[in-house]
Amino acid sequence: QDVRLWGGRFADGPAEALAKLSASVHFDWRLAPYDIAGSRAHARVLHKAGLLTDDELTRMIEGLGLLEADVAAGTFTGTVADEDVHTALERGLLERLGPELGGKLRAGRSRNDQVATLFRMYLRDHARIIGGLIADLQEALVGLAQDHADVAMPGRTHLQHAQPVLFAHHVLAHVQALSRDAERLRQWDERTAVSPYGSGALAGSSLGLDPEAVAADLGFERGSAGNSIDGTASRDFVAEFAFITAMIGVDLSRIAEEVIIWNTKEFSFVTLHDAFSTGSSIMPQKKNPDIAELARGKSGRLIGNLTGLLATLKALPLAYNRDLQEDKEPVFDSCDQLEVLLPAFTGMMATLTVHRERMEELAPAGFSLATDIAEWLVRRGVPFRVAHEVAGACVKECEARGIELDELTDEQFAAISPHLTPEVRSVLNVPGALASRSGRGGTAPSAVAVQLQEVKADLAVQ
Ligand code: ARG
Repeated sequence: QDVRLWGGRFADGPAEALAKLSASVHFDWRLAPYDIAGSRAHARVLHKAGLLTDDELTRMIEGLGLLEADVAAGTFTGTVADEDVHTALERGLLERLGPELGGKLRAGRSRNDQVATLFRMYLRDHARIIGGLIADLQEALVGLAQDHADVAMPGRTHLQHAQPVLFAHHVLAHVQALSRDAERLRQWDERTAVSPYGSGALAGSSLGLDPEAVAADLGFERGSAGNSIDGTASRDFVAEFAFITAMIGVDLSRIAEEVIIWNTKEFSFVTLHDAFSTGSSIMPQKKNPDIAELARGKSGRLIGNLTGLLATLKALPLAYNRDLQEDKEPVFDSCDQLEVLLPAFTGMMATLTVHRERMEELAPAGFSLATDIAEWLVRRGVPFRVAHEVAGACVKECEARGIELDELTDEQFAAISPHLTPEVRSVLNVPGALASRSGRGGTAPSAVAVQLQEVKADLAVQ
């Protein structure tokens, strides 16, 4: 039996090479439940338009239910000969209802409006799954911050010691980035809540169907597409989804890179839990941060999915072109990758051990309190330009003597500048430096506590 939906004007079936090239059923099969939901909604508007009798609608819905159960059980699947999921499911329906009734469902719809709709439904579901996984990671990071609320560490710029910060402050910076990613997903979801069903191949339908009813039936809060050409041909919702998932990958890769560095012998800031690290096949002593490395690696893949998709969309004329069949695999892959990566990543972050003594020992190293000397001078009326010079001279003196700032004697301070009275020592300690940065968003324990409360309140509604 010829399963093609378009055989009428052709004398011959497709060449095997074409069938192989054309097939998407091996990757679009995951749209099957959405296709069936779409068919149910479509059957209802056909009935509403008088194109299916009450009895036909009842039998159609029953047939779709049987098909759905067989798909779920794996007893009905698509084949290469079916070309795509839509064709396969139509075959399934014909097999269950016979050609007379089964053949009625196709009226007024095209695979073009179907696929554009189902793809939105699939990605919206996965945006929520990924959003939930991000919230789990945020919870783990908030826990990490909370459990080490008073631990100081060297804050860095250019990877060089800059100023001491609270470890919690640093961890919460990553939580903020993830909050924006989660927000992007929510806003994307809202924007994508428009149904192209009813757009037909590109021009709409002459059958008096009700696209708004289909949209409501399928959970599209913003109704049906205002332009059938755009409805079938636009894929910016896919590109935007690919961007958001790539951005999530990039944000994870930045945490990952730090974990990898912190976990080295040289840093010794953290130790990963055995359950979330791997060994070496040859070196018995090795314990590797593979989860973090895979996060770093997969971020490249997620970026590739975005750029590949954009290249596919570039300069495509309206409306549907078969190029658009290439839109699915990249973002299906982005979903798959994040959905395996995020739980492992969260486990790694939730279970790592923080070595507070090591972090705190290094917090003041590398003259990271030089800014505090300069700002102390400014509070005493010294212009910042001069203060910067003076603090710089202190660093120079220390470097020459191989000592730290707080090891300079009163005489050495005075010799550098008469402004440097012994009281300067009051700022040459990490707790003092931290506490002094108490403005909104700063690293003082009081400011970080506020931030923690805000982040937790945010997570509670997210
Ligand atoms: N499988 C196609 C896709 O993913 C949908 C089919 C549209 N085919 C067509 N010849 N109009 O885009």
